[in-house]
This record gives sequence, structure tokens and C-alpha cells, in this order.
Amino acid sequence: MKQYLFMLAIMLGTSLMARDKVPFDSNWKFARFGSMPDGSFKREHKDIDEIDYDDSSWRVLDVPHDWGIEGPFRSDLPNQTGKLPWAGIGWYRKVFESPESDQGKRVFVEFDGAMSGTQIWLNGCYVGEWPYGYTSFQMELTKYLKVGQKNTIAVRLDNKEHSSRWYPGGGIYRHVRLVKTNPIKIEHWGVFVTTPDVSKEKATVNISTEIDGDTEGLVIHQEIFVPGDPLIKVAEKKSFKGELCSVDIIKPKLWDLNNPNLYVLKTSLIKDGEVIDELDNTFGVRSIAYTAQGFYLNGEKVRMNGVCMHHDLGPLGTAVNVRAMERQIEILKSFGTNAIRTAHNPPAPEFLDLCDRMGILVQVESFDVWQKQKVENDYSTLFGAWHERDLRAMVRRDRNHPSVVMWSTGNEMIELRSGNDAPMAVRLADIIRSEDATRPTTFGCSRPEAISNGFEHTADVFGLNYKPHLYQELRDAKPDLPIYGSETASTVSSRGEYFFPVSEDKRKGSGGYFQVSSYDFSAPNWAYRPEVEWESLDKNPWVLGEFVWTGFDYIGEPTPYNKDKTNLLNFSDPAEKAKMEAELKKMGNQIPPRSSYFGIVDLCGFPKDRYYLYQSRWLPDVPMVHILPHWNWPERVGKVTPVFVYTSGDEAELFLNGKSLGRKKKANFEYRLRWDDVIYQPGELEVVAYKGGKLWAKSKVQTTQDAAKLSLEADRTMIAADGQDLSFVTVRVLDKSGLMVPRTHNSVKYTLSGPGEIIAVGNGNPTSHESFQATQRKVFNGMALVVIRSKKGESGKIKLIAESDGLRKAERIIRAK
Ligand code: GAL
Repeated sequence: MKQYLFMLAIMLGTSLMARDKVPFDSNWKFARFGSMPDGSFKREHKDIDEIDYDDSSWRVLDVPHDWGIEGPFRSDLPNQTGKLPWAGIGWYRKVFESPESDQGKRVFVEFDGAMSGTQIWLNGCYVGEWPYGYTSFQMELTKYLKVGQKNTIAVRLDNKEHSSRWYPGGGIYRHVRLVKTNPIKIEHWGVFVTTPDVSKEKATVNISTEIDGDTEGLVIHQEIFVPGDPLIKVAEKKSFKGELCSVDIIKPKLWDLNNPNLYVLKTSLIKDGEVIDELDNTFGVRSIAYTAQGFYLNGEKVRMNGVCMHHDLGPLGTAVNVRAMERQIEILKSFGTNAIRTAHNPPAPEFLDLCDRMGILVQVESFDVWQKQKVENDYSTLFGAWHERDLRAMVRRDRNHPSVVMWSTGNEMIELRSGNDAPMAVRLADIIRSEDATRPTTFGCSRPEAISNGFEHTADVFGLNYKPHLYQELRDAKPDLPIYGSETASTVSSRGEYFFPVSEDKRKGSGGYFQVSSYDFSAPNWAYRPEVEWESLDKNPWVLGEFVWTGFDYIGEPTPYNKDKTNLLNFSDPAEKAKMEAELKKMGNQIPPRSSYFGIVDLCGFPKDRYYLYQSRWLPDVPMVHILPHWNWPERVGKVTPVFVYTSGDEAELFLNGKSLGRKKKANFEYRLRWDDVIYQPGELEVVAYKGGKLWAKSKVQTTQDAAKLSLEADRTMIAADGQDLSFVTVRVLDKSGLMVPRTHNSVKYTLSGPGEIIAVGNGNPTSHESFQATQRKVFNGMALVVIRSKKGESGKIKLIAESDGLRKAERIIRAK
């Protein structure tokens, strides 16, 4: 058949030129059915897949699109998935022209991800399905395509209730494209580059190329370039039929965390002297090794200072945006993060491109469950039929990324409880290895019994969730097994909230209106403050590192106010578990919290105090010192108000209104400095930090005057006029001398003029039910966020004005170019 098509293409005289990639994001028609955002129910129409279905009343939009983030927040919806109406059915339809040049071509549609239960029709004919919302897929349209005519593609998504433990979003939330090729082509994700021998002098680059179609007479030409500079060719090779080929790069520029150098491999298929397919793959030259002593990148030991990240982009929801993801990574790097675990699913492809470019190690994770369910309609319903296809899609798409250093087969699977299920872990690891044997497989293990029930033999690298006390035990049992903390800490807090008296009891610290104190002691039963992990890491330097739960706050799972019954899975003490069960029963669905408290930064990316604690450890050479709490406590005059100091120094002296409150030095395994008995009086609290006896850093907090004005600060004042680029503008309430006034919650109105639009607002308050898609937003403890997007092809000045009663307004100009 393929040969026939190929001949036909020649006969028709169509171009044999290489593949076309056609963006397919714009101008979709969209409508919802089933559970509607307002809680009503709408019967699904018949024949939506048919060409002549009347969609004239449907919304027109571009993808990536997340229908859940549009809201509204509904108090009746479960808080573990964000109280947003993401569940339900959504249809997308799009009419597109197939040009005459498609004659003799093969045409595919590629979805980077759609949430979820995707089914696709072209011109009324069923093309196929792809249920898992987090893996990428390609479907061939050739058979049903009407060349030279209009075509109608219809996509049905079905998000089942109770299918997630966090906010999954809904819709075609990643990019879509058409790919047009000749009949004989490079297989989808069929080029695999590895670098088995790497030194500063020379790197061996192995390339395997899978061909879709007859390989007789094919020549495969492979060339390696420096990205962005097609003139700098560093190697080339010709091979035949797709057999493994090997080339050397002399004096390669290695990929590492500080210099994430990349290369581009250009693969050309040549038949009878003509190029019939061509594909670029980005890769990096680096070696990774895991030993019982640690993780090594290019022969050098690197401790993983990692965070777990869910896939939402805060107020922007789950719709992929490269700048929003880049900003997340910039913020994570700013406190020293060097590794990310994509909890608990494969990420968008652009996320890994960014990690390649920004020098981040990534553990890509496949699933949150296997066969045994955590919530009713989760992946356990698909596991049997789909796990192999999903795993292959995950690995094949991402195996050329130098940033990817581990594949995870799952997180806290219920199966871990019984050694009888251990063979499952081996089967999954084998599937992964059959696509990529260069990276280890792992999983996140929460069950103490799984370190001795057989599961300990099933991962190349063993991840323990919240078990720093078991590192040594597992080491004793399996001395050669590399071990790390796949989930650590889970400290909870709300930015800028402090409750008194300060208690070290991790179960205390809740206060106010469903807020959690930022003194960084609070954690759920199974979890602990950051330092508990660090003490274990310092005593066991061979542990590869940790992945903190979590880098950013995310939508859903507002522990300690989470209603999700899977919270109970974390309890090993039956009495504690029963207590939690009773508490959860008492809490109706109606409590407001809708996003997590776990983040080191809040949902808007604003640092919580904990940010500075991690920074002090993960960037030990960067002079810094941070004081908490803020110093605006009129009701606490004369009362004990503990002051904590986070510093990368080893010693600090604290002054209140110029008077020393003493100089303190970190003891062994002490990571924060504490002045527990400070008696509050307004004024200025100043800290001077030292390292090795020398002045290291200074900082102060001051009691402010009344709120007087607003300020707007943009992360970037120049953005691309491409309809994608964003400026993140931080709103602050200041006193007249310019100090941010904590504990302010003023309502602020935003007006925008010029070629841009406000696409999201937020403030990091996990209990707020104000819409993320609005032009007003209260500040939460002094701060809010406005996200502005450029308009495609429209350059000029974008002006944002912020106004609030009783405060001087603020303006900010952003240029789109
Ligand atoms: C873990 C789980 C995560 C998250 C976390 C909260 O047990 O793997 O997904 O729920 O607890 O602490």
C-alpha cells in the first residue's frame, strides 16, 4: 500500500520534498455537554462528528485551551480537584482545507495532550481514541482526508468525575499540528540518539533510525549541528536501511547544569537521489551514572535538589504556555532547584525543551496508579489496555532530552503493599527499557513494607516518599541500590500568614480563615519540616538527593483541609488514621480551600518564607539572609513574637530597634536560626549574617505606615507580539515610603489598553473563589498578580492601570514588539 502511494506520488508529479509541519491550534469551534460549569446538565447532541452538524453557535477559540480554569469556582465541587468545573464532555470541531499538494502524502494529526478520553472523527469517519490525558499521540488521517477540499475534524473529550487526585484541567490543553509526509518516512519518534562514551576529548554518538515503509535503496544522511547555526556542522554520517550508526564529535561541548549545551541532529532520508523526509532532533552530549554513592553527571557527583511539580500553571490553569513554564523554572532555579519530578504524569514537550535549555535534571513520571485505584475513575480503569502504549509514548517522545535522567513507572501505587505485585514493576520497567536502556527506572514508594517485600528488587533507583528514617535500613538491605527521596517535606503554609503562639507541633499552625502559619513547622501526619530531610541527607551523603513536595502550590489537594480520602493512604498508624477519617467526615464539601499549601512558592510564584530556607541550603555560596515574620503586629505589643532567620551564612545577630537580641550560630544539623522570645514592639528588626566569622549578608523588616499606594512591577516590560508571550505583573500595596504593607487585602481593579489582554489574575490565597479570569482581584497579604498576553502581529504600548479605593493608583507600560 505504502509503495503504491509512493508510486502514485511520483506519477502525479507531487513534490517529494520532506515533511511539512502545519500548526493546527487556531480557529476551533468548542462546546460543552454533560456536566456544565454552572452545575446544570446538558444532553449531548447527536451527530456532532458529522460534517453538516450545525456548530454556528459554538464558541470560536484557539488551543491550547483549559475549559476548567474558566470556572466558576463552585463550593459544591470537591476541593481535592480545585472546586473548578473541569469534569464533563467537551467537543471541538475545526474545518480545514487540504491543498492539492496533499495528494500522495500521508497526513497525520498530532496532539501533545488532550484532557481526556479523546475520540477523533474526520469527515464523519471515526479515526481513533486516546484516553490518557497526559501522553502525546499521533493519528493518521490519510484514509479519510478529502484532498483539495474542505475537511471537518471533530474531537470529543470526556472528563469523568473522580478521575484525579488534583486539578487535571480539561480540553485540548497542549498544542496540535498536522504532519504531512511522503509514503516512506521516518517513524514517529523514530530517531533515538544516545551518547554512550563521553569525554572532553571525544563523544561517541549512536543514532538509531526507524523507518516507516520499504527501506530498499534508502540512504540515511545524518548531520550534527550547533543549534541556531546550521553552518557549524560537527559530524555527519551516511547509513542504510536504518541500522545503528555511530559518529564522533571531537571536543564536544557537554550538556551540564551550568552550560546546557545542545546539538541538533538532522536526519535526511534519501531515495534515488531525492530527499524524501527530513527531521531535526535536539540532543545533548552528557553521561549519567547512578551508583550506591550518588548520581554523577559527566563524571561529577551532583546532589539532586529537586522539587515535585504538578502540571498546572497556577491562575493560567493547564493550557500550555512556554513563557509561563519558563517563568516557573526561573523561579525554581532562583532558590537553587536543579531537578524536577513531573508528578505524577508525563509533561508537555515544551517543558522538557526548557529543562534542556535551562539545565535542569528531570524525572519523567508515567502514572499515579496502576491496576489498583485511588479514586473511582482514575487510570486504573485504563491501565490494562493502555499502560504499554502510554509508556512507549512517554519514552519514545522524550528519550532524546539530555535533561531527562530517570523514568518513573509510578507514584505510591497501592500495589506496593504486597510483594505479589512486584512483577508488575518489572514488566513496566522492561517496557521502558525496550525503548530506552540508557536511563534507570524508578518509582515513588510510600510503603515501608515495600523495602523488603520484593519491590526493592524492581527499580534501578529507589525513591522513598517521606521516609528519611528508612534510607539506612534500605541501604543495609540492598547495599548497591541507589536511593533518593522521591517526595520529601510536604511542609504546608500560606504566604504571609503567621499564627501565635508558635508551636513546633506539625499538626498545629492552622488559623485564620483556613490558612496555615508560615513559621514552617506545619505538615500533615506523614510529612515533616524541611530540616528533617536535610539531617538525614547530611548523615547519609550517598542518598542521591530529594524532590520536595512541592516547588509551586498547585490547584487542588488543599491539605490540611483536603477532602480526598486518599489522604488516608499515607497513615500507617491506625489510630491517627481513624482520627483523620473522623475529621474528614466532619468537613463538608463546602469548605473553601481549593489549592495546595505545599508549595515553596505560592500559586502565583511569589516566594513564601520557605523559599529562603531552601535557598539557604541549595545555594550555599550566594550570600543571603531572610527574616520572618513581617513586623506589623499592633495587637502584639509586649507579646512574645518569635523571629526566625534563614541564611546561607552560619551565624547571625538580630537587632530590634538597634538593640542586639544576641548572636546565634547554627549547631550541627541546625538549619534555621531562632529567636523564640522576642517581645514585639514596632520598629525595625535587622539581621546581620556571618559566614566563617566574616560579614555575609544583611536584611531588615520594618513596621510600615498605613497603606497609601499601589505599585506594579512587570517581570518583563518588552514582550513578543506573537499572541503567546506574557508579562507577569506583580501588584503590591505600599505605604507612602514604599514599603509593602503586609496583611492588606484591598480589592484592586485593572484596566488595560493597547495590543494586549489580561488573561489571568491571582493572589496566592488558597481559599479565594474569585475568578482567575477577571479584571479585578484582591491582594492577598499585600500582593497580587496580573498576567498580560500580547496580541498576534500587533505591536505597540500596552498600558496597565491598577486602582483601588483609598490608594494612589499605579500604571505600567509594557511594549509588544
Ligand atoms: C503523597 C502523594 C502526592 C501528594 C502528597 C501530599 O503521598 O504522592 O501526590 O498527595 O502526598 O503530601
